[in-house]
Amino acid sequence: MPRNTWFETVAIAQQRAKKRLPKSVYSSLISASEKGLTVADNVESFGELGFAPHVIGAPEKRDMATTVMGQEISMPVIISPTGVQAVDPDGEVAVARAAAARGTAMGLSSFASKPIEEVVAVNGKIFFQIYWLGDRAAIAARAQRAKEAGAVGLIVTTDWSFSHGRDWGSPQIPEQMDLKTIAKMMPEGLSRPGWFLQWAKTLRPPNLRVPNQGGRGEPGPPFFQAYGEWMGTPPPTWEDIAWLRELWGGPFMLKGIVRVDDAKRAVDAGVSAISVSNHGGNNLDGTPASIRCLPAIADAVGDEVEVLLDGGIRRGSDVVKSVALGARAVMIGRAYLWGLAAGGQTGVENVLDILRGGIDSALMGLGRSSIHELSAEDILIPEGFTRALGVPNI
Ligand SMILES: Cc1cc2nc3c(=O)[nH]c(=O)nc-3n(C[C@H](O)[C@H](O)[C@H](O)COP(=O)(O)O)c2cc1C
Repeated sequence: MPRNTWFETVAIAQQRAKKRLPKSVYSSLISASEKGLTVADNVESFGELGFAPHVIGAPEKRDMATTVMGQEISMPVIISPTGVQAVDPDGEVAVARAAAARGTAMGLSSFASKPIEEVVAVNGKIFFQIYWLGDRAAIAARAQRAKEAGAVGLIVTTDWSFSHGRDWGSPQIPEQMDLKTIAKMMPEGLSRPGWFLQWAKTLRPPNLRVPNQGGRGEPGPPFFQAYGEWMGTPPPTWEDIAWLRELWGGPFMLKGIVRVDDAKRAVDAGVSAISVSNHGGNNLDGTPASIRCLPAIADAVGDEVEVLLDGGIRRGSDVVKSVALGARAVMIGRAYLWGLAAGGQTGVENVLDILRGGIDSALMGLGRSSIHELSAEDILIPEGFTRALGVPNI
């Protein structure tokens, strides 16, 4: 990456994204439910955790390779599925390429702007993410298409409660990209000429359809039609989760667990992985940070399923803290979206390199030669930091 576009931290990527993107697009990347208590706690809670470094005895080389849902990854960081599309014309394909270049896997949102076939073509380690939308036959058809396309795992996300009232304002996603909408959005687009020109060169407006909600080769329904259908679909039961896992038959993650009792039910439903997550603060505001909920869940089910975490990862040291407290790996959301906005594929690679460098430094400082040696002993956990949700008598 040229020196003038390279950035040193995720915070700088965020500043670049803010400068480059139209206000409404940038706002959709930072906003969360209601007052934003959870999204803030996701990030700030990492700052409450300390390290216990050694000064002598640092290993010469540090190993950070691991596996997630059967896929070898070069470090304990994978791409979390996100449905934001207007950040970059290459969108999910650019992200998948970056992940492949850095040896890691990617969750692909069912609300993504690119068809899964195009994404799998550039990265063979794709986990397809499904929302509970439509009847069992429709969900089975979507899973089947993902399997035929070559997805190597399924992620089911159920932690979304259609919450209203965001203090940021809700993302203003137009119903359709007709001439009237384009004319209305033109002033905002022109206020960010770099972003605008990048789109203008493609001679097509941002895709407001969701191609993975339809059949292969079809454009898919408009975003809001799919969203409306999702709102009208009865939420899944544990039997539904067990049904889909059985039907899928391969690696299967339930994303969005914050309670120990739910983690145990997920194990009973036969999942192979869970992500301790609050949807990046986009579900019920006031839910504690994922990292606070992780230790109790990892203690309860860490021997039975792969436990991942997502929410608030901005530095390699956050990854190390998560792994030390029981996560096999983490998933990142906003960090790579900011990288994508700042520099397309290379911007995402830049973010992954920042995290890799940070993991390496933290391992070195802790005197650990591998992420597999990390434990809670490496971390200073202030009293009252953790939250054991869904545990009787606590
Ligand atoms: C803009 C945006 C869109 C998202 N879309 C999805 C989605 O389509 N499916 C999903 O499972 N999670 C989605 N998420 C949640 C992320 O997968 C992840 O849980 C969250 O971003 C992690 O927090 P972080 O952004 O602090 O890393 C989205 C998050 C953001 C910020």
